[in-house]
Amino acid sequence: MQICRSVQEMRTACRALRRDGTLGFVPTMGGLHAGHMALVVRAAEVSEAVVASVFVNPTQFESGADLAAYPSDTDADLAALEAAGVAAVFLPQATDVYPEGAETIVEVTRLGTMLHGAVRPGHFKGVATVVTKLFNIAQPDVACFGKKDYQQLALIRRMVRDLHFGLRIEAVETVREADGLAMSSRNARLSAVERAAAPVLNQALRDAAEVLRSGGDVPTAEAAVRARIAAEPLATLAGFDVVEAGDFTPVATRAGGVLGMMISAQLGDVLLLDQMEVSV
Ligand code: PAF
Repeated sequence: MQICRSVQEMRTACRALRRDGTLGFVPTMGGLHAGHMALVVRAAEVSEAVVASVFVNPTQFESGADLAAYPSDTDADLAALEAAGVAAVFLPQATDVYPEGAETIVEVTRLGTMLHGAVRPGHFKGVATVVTKLFNIAQPDVACFGKKDYQQLALIRRMVRDLHFGLRIEAVETVREADGLAMSSRNARLSAVERAAAPVLNQALRDAAEVLRSGGDVPTAEAAVRARIAAEPLATLAGFDVVEAGDFTPVATRAGGVLGMMISAQLGDVLLLDQMEVSV
């Protein structure tokens, strides 16, 4: 596996790989777990060679503390990517990605500021900007993103469409622990008791899905979510939203088709996210 530390090295490696067939790309911020590896597996299924990036993007964190707390184990990440057959990994410094004097940002106006974007101002501008840079450097045919970051996935799809990127986005199902907890790099920051409580997010989503499938409306689903989270003293609900899966229009009462439900909850100082789609 080639380790590319500069933009030029990564460009050259990707160009060479593209000569031999289609190129799949998995952008990550490291702290790799089975959820990331599912993205690599999917990329390998739909393209001839796979490249990845490991870059903790500073512009998508609102606070320095959150950035500093982001788990990082580069050796373990590289070993996992190599074992999975990744051909090249981009491992840049922030100054390579954001050269001195950089002043261009990418903003997806509606999808970047609604819901999670309203709670974390600037977060999605950071995501859209870095993903644009990574796409321009790697120029893949397909890029894989997890459904767990459901709004991020919708925003990147929209950006790819709006800016005419010549690549396809492949969405990969959320990978879960045996007790239903969605895999996340943040899970490593939970204490033992918080970890035991964390599957409550998934339970709340399953309660909400049950309400919607049996004909209930969104306020009733939300009440079920609130009740489930309130019953877990270690968890505080931060958000629950239902959108139309296609265009991400918020659903306030009731709608047909595929709906996306997103939940976020605070456990100690860790904010966990989860997501589920439901057909009604
Ligand atoms: O999902 C992530 O890990 C990050 O938001 C991404 C897409 C790698 C951009 O930094």
